[in-house]
Amino acid sequence: MRLVKLLANLGYGSRKEMQAAIRNGWVTDKDGNPIKADSKLAHEDILFDDEPLDPPEGSVILLNKPLGYTCSMKDRGRLVFDLLPARYRVRKPALSFVGRLDKDTTGLLLFTDDGKLLHQIISPKADVAKVYEVELDRPMTGGEADQFASGEMMLENDTSPLKPAELEVLSETTARLTLHEGRYHQVRRMFAATGNHVTKLHRAQLGGLTLDGVEEGQWKLLGTADIDRIFGDSA
Ligand code: URA
Repeated sequence: MRLVKLLANLGYGSRKEMQAAIRNGWVTDKDGNPIKADSKLAHEDILFDDEPLDPPEGSVILLNKPLGYTCSMKDRGRLVFDLLPARYRVRKPALSFVGRLDKDTTGLLLFTDDGKLLHQIISPKADVAKVYEVELDRPMTGGEADQFASGEMMLENDTSPLKPAELEVLSETTARLTLHEGRYHQVRRMFAATGNHVTKLHRAQLGGLTLDGVEEGQWKLLGTADIDRIFGDSA
């Protein structure tokens, strides 16, 4: 891809601005030598303003989402995109969420511009488990684990029963819940159906991928080993 188009697609600015950036010598090789618009340098060998270029098309980003941020491109209030460099909001192809988290849910959220990978992750065939840590308003009554595992639980307004889900009770009011699908407000609705109320919800794991080493509000680019972990076993 031509350098001007590459930089514009990464969100550094318009094509006109990128032509000017190249003319002004802001785009260089690793030794700081300005490069030309027809340069054939590899993506990883190019610097913009002395910084390595943002990740190329086909990347996956993991964010440890804090409370109060919305998974949306344009809602009012704080958006998860506010936690990434501003350029990431205007990249082409666009970064999409791989399944959303509610504004009041924290934890593991992925973004990618790789449509094929996105569909692989959310496809029922891949059965990528999602592990949630849950805090509840009231003690559980004891029947929740069987109800969630039954494969027969129907939520209001849904047209098919939920897939069996595994509940690990940690205390009267805390649990880990593993889901094999992703319906709207699923965890909150499941507990609401048992007469309880979720007060804290955190996604800790997606397949075999965890938030290890990524603090709340921080993000990292996933390498191929991390991406493979999504399709590996849940702990
Ligand atoms: N279930 C919910 O209720 N909310 C989320 O954000 C994710 C799963």
